[in-house]
Amino acid sequence: MSRYSAAVITVSDKSYQGQREDLAGPMVRTMLEEAGFEVKYTSIVPDEKDLIERELIHTADSLDIALTVATGGTGFSKRDVTPEATESVCQRMTPGIPEAMRYESSKITNRAMLSRAAAGIRGNTLIINLPGSPKAARENLCAVLPALEHGLDMLRSAPRDHETE
Ligand code: MTE
Repeated sequence: MSRYSAAVITVSDKSYQGQREDLAGPMVRTMLEEAGFEVKYTSIVPDEKDLIERELIHTADSLDIALTVATGGTGFSKRDVTPEATESVCQRMTPGIPEAMRYESSKITNRAMLSRAAAGIRGNTLIINLPGSPKAARENLCAVLPALEHGLDMLRSAPRDHETE
């Protein structure tokens, strides 16, 4: 079980405007809580790069959240800019996480390749993107959730000499 904090950012013009109920965000929250994360912050933002960046930076720099999950805005529509916002705020990318998501998801649908989801590290915070539909968000998070704890242990432990585990 994780002992880390988490934030869930829903990225959706329609949910932000109240035209579509946000189902993915609460579902991601439940999955994280079942894995032991304490979800300390949730929000809904429109598909605007600067607003997404502001939320990601807020969770990392002000709230010191361990894991920030952004769901939505990873596809090909012109408004989908969540990966670009993530890349612009992260100091180091963690490509293995979206690789694992797309690999596992490709066993479910050949549309898995259409997710441009990114993941990376800002300070002490791991930021990961998920697709926007509740089904896709659940399947993608399932693919990586069991490994995240170890990544956060490495990220948030004090600097140390290299050791094998
Ligand atoms: N991954 C899984 N596991 N299951 C899915 O149904 N849908 C795909 C893809 N990844 C899907 C998936 C589709 S159709 C798209 S367009 C992309 O995720 C991006 O979704 P988004 O635009 O909602 O972010």
